[in-house]
Amino acid sequence: MKIAIINGPNLNLLGKREPGIYGSETFEEFFGQLKLKYPDVSFTYFQSNIEGELVNEIQRAGFEDDGIIINPAAYTHTSVAIGDAIASVKAAAIEVHISNVHAREEFRKLSHVSAKAAGSIIGLGLKGYELALQWFLSR
Ligand code: DQA
Repeated sequence: MKIAIINGPNLNLLGKREPGIYGSETFEEFFGQLKLKYPDVSFTYFQSNIEGELVNEIQRAGFEDDGIIINPAAYTHTSVAIGDAIASVKAAAIEVHISNVHAREEFRKLSHVSAKAAGSIIGLGLKGYELALQWFLSR
């Protein structure tokens, strides 16, 4: 199974970015453990702070990989292009948010991605990425 994990802007700062909201673990630490736990899964990991680069990666993964786990970060709330890209590709995508966006500012309640994703996992920390993976493995 080929799974693409795609992270949007500022998620390269996990571990030092607002740890009260996002925790103190870096994504690299978490991802290292995930790869060890699921050795039969072929992962790709892509992070960008640039909207168009995320669209390009969704387009690549969406026709080459079996599933997409995406946290579009702030672009969730603004990017029609990312929502359209997810709707345009063959592979299903799961939207993940580390924090509970519904318990935060009003603007975080809007997602341009949720309606195009197979499902969303919100507010369960980094564990949400693993839960999304388990959904793909159970299909
Ligand atoms: C986030 C929530 C977004 O509102 C925010 O802009 C992020 C991270 C999350 O994982 O909780 O950058 O997607």
